[in-house]
Amino acid sequence: MFNVIVRDTYDEVSSEAFKVMKEVVRKKNAVLGLATGSSPIGLYKKMIADHHSEGTSYKEIRTWNLDEYTGIPHTHDQSYYTFMHENLFNHIDIPEENTHVPCGEGDDLEQNCRDYEKSMEDVIVDIQVLGIGSDGHIAFNEPGTPFDSLTHIMDLTEQTRQDNARFFDNDIDQVPTHAITMGLASIMRARKIVLIATGANKADAVYGMIHGPITTDCPASILQAHPDVTVVLDPAAAAKL
Ligand code: F6R
Repeated sequence: MFNVIVRDTYDEVSSEAFKVMKEVVRKKNAVLGLATGSSPIGLYKKMIADHHSEGTSYKEIRTWNLDEYTGIPHTHDQSYYTFMHENLFNHIDIPEENTHVPCGEGDDLEQNCRDYEKSMEDVIVDIQVLGIGSDGHIAFNEPGTPFDSLTHIMDLTEQTRQDNARFFDNDIDQVPTHAITMGLASIMRARKIVLIATGANKADAVYGMIHGPITTDCPASILQAHPDVTVVLDPAAAAKL
């Protein structure tokens, strides 16, 4: 079930997402599912500001991230490991061992997938943060991914690599071709979801997610079957609703 909120500016969109997050992080031992990309950066800034001004502590909070590129080291400036440290973990009091980002390195990526799934085995995510790709992907579950998927390796589509080239000197050849990603079934297990989308290039995907048929052609459409999804949009992303 969707609760759709539309706000004029990215700052207001981030504030609405933060309201949902704040309710959850009040619980000292909450489990957060986190996303990377540009959409949640404003939310993370608000979490950091609140940590400093209100003293909200993350000492007993644990986090699991959605995805990571393969083919680049975790120390790469565009890895999602680096992104999470620069945009959130380094600025709050969360212990490093409480944070989990899938490992996209090594010779046996299938084993990395199994290990990540095992790390989440007994965990229920209290709130899952999501963005959405212009092709309707959530995490890196591209169109065609089965709804019962667990952590797996994904071939990134041309469209996703083109969209993400902005982080790689606008050079699609530098964008990794594969990623390790939590599956759709893993995401659907979260108690609550907050999805952030801004900009006109998200409008079709947002429409498909909310009003389209539930189909693997638009992976985000599976969220229609989730009981508690807050979708926070700007007017451009909401334009086709
Ligand atoms: C990132 C992720 C992706 C992004 C999506 C939108 O962890 O899971 O699904 O949320 O590609 O990216 P942005 O926010 O950069 O438009």
